[in-house]
Amino acid sequence: MCDDELIPPRADLTEQEWLRTGPQAPTGGPPPRTTGRVPGSLGRRALLGTAMAGAALAALPAGAGTAAAAPRSGGPADSFPFPEHPNSHGEFAVLITGDAGTGDDAQYAVAAAARDVCRTEGVGLAVGLGDNLYENGPESDHDAEFQDKFERPNAGIDVPWLMVLGNHDCSGLIPGSGGDPSRGDREVLYATRSRRWYMPARYYSVPLPAAHPLVEFFVLDTIPWSSYVVQLDPYYHWDGPYMRQQRAWLDGALRASRARWKVVLSHHPYLNNGKHGSAGAYDGFTVGNYTSGVHLKDLYEQVVCGRTDLILSGHDHTLQVLEPTARTGGTGQVVCGASAKTGDGRAHFDHPAAWQDFAAHGFLVLKASATRLTVDVYTVDVPTRRATLAHRTHSTRPVAPAARTAATA
Ligand SMILES: [Fe+2]
Repeated sequence: MCDDELIPPRADLTEQEWLRTGPQAPTGGPPPRTTGRVPGSLGRRALLGTAMAGAALAALPAGAGTAAAAPRSGGPADSFPFPEHPNSHGEFAVLITGDAGTGDDAQYAVAAAARDVCRTEGVGLAVGLGDNLYENGPESDHDAEFQDKFERPNAGIDVPWLMVLGNHDCSGLIPGSGGDPSRGDREVLYATRSRRWYMPARYYSVPLPAAHPLVEFFVLDTIPWSSYVVQLDPYYHWDGPYMRQQRAWLDGALRASRARWKVVLSHHPYLNNGKHGSAGAYDGFTVGNYTSGVHLKDLYEQVVCGRTDLILSGHDHTLQVLEPTARTGGTGQVVCGASAKTGDGRAHFDHPAAWQDFAAHGFLVLKASATRLTVDVYTVDVPTRRATLAHRTHSTRPVAPAARTAATA
C-alpha cells in the first residue's frame, strides 16, 4: 500500500488546526484514518512554500489565473508545436501520464518506456495529470525541480505537455494539502520558460487541431474543491469567484466545442476504486465543503457527465479503466496516476471496471480519429524500462454532439 499521502484526522480543518491536532484525532466526526500519517516534522521545502507564495503571485502576469484557450500562447519562441495533422495511422495520439513528479528511478523508467511507445505510435502531444512536482510544488517559477522532475526525465518526448494542477502542486504548510492554490501560479509562469510545459492558465482548453478540432481537451483545476483543508483565501473558497468562474467557463466551453471528442483532464477523479475513493467521499469523508470533494462531485455530475467522452484523472497511484454507466451519462472515467508511484489499492467503492491494476507502474496513449477514440493502457516493468500493452478500449460513438458553430456566449 502506498502511504505517502497525509490524510487529515477530520474534514475541513485549517492547516493550523491540523498541525495543532497532532497525532491524536479529535473525538467526533468520521473515525480516524488508518491510511494517513499526521505530520510530525515538515521539510524545509514545505515550510518555505508559504513564504514564497506571495512573491510568486506578485510576479504573475495579469489574467494568468483565469481561463485561456489559445494553443501555444505565452511559451518561448522555440516551444514544441501542437500537431496540426494526424499521424501516419490517421490519428492524433496523446501520451497520458499522472502523478509523475518524483524525480526518482521509477519516473525515469516509465518515461523511458513511454518514449519508445511515443515513437512507434506517432505521439504528438502529452499530458501530465497533476502532482507534477512532489512533495509540495515549486518554490518559484525557476525552481530546479522543474528540471529534476520534469524536463530531464521527459527528455526526448519533444511535444507540448498539457499540464494539470495537482494537490501536491498547490500545498501550503502540509505537503499535498492543496491549501495554497496560489502556489500553482508558479507552474503557470514556468510555461513561459519551457519548450514542453504547457499551462497558459490554471484551467484551459485545447482543441486539436486548432482550426478544425477533432478532439478537445478541457483542463480543470480541481484543487480548491478537493483540498484536504479549508481554503483561507476567499478567492478560492468552494463558492468563491474562482470556482464559480471555472464552472461557468467549463459549461460554456463544452457547449461551444466543435470537436467530435471531448476529454476532461483533471487531477481528482469522479469515480475511483482506489484508496482515495470517489468525489463526494474522498478518503472516507462525506461531510464538509472541501475534504470530501462534494462540490467537485456536483461539477462532474451537473456539467461534465453526459457531455464528454472521457474524464482522465490521477491522484490515485493506480491504473483503472471504469465502464461508462447510466450514472456517468455514458462518460468514461480513466485513472492514470501510476507514472512514478504505485500501490494505492482497493479501499473504497467498487465501480464496474473494464480493467484495472493497483500494483503496476504505467501510462496511457489516447488516440483520436474521425471514427474512434481509443485508450491504450501500458504497464511498465521498472527494472527493464519496458512497456507492455495491457488493455485497449475504444468508443465509436461520441457521448454528445459537437456544436455546429462556436457559441458566442
Ligand atoms: Fe494527488
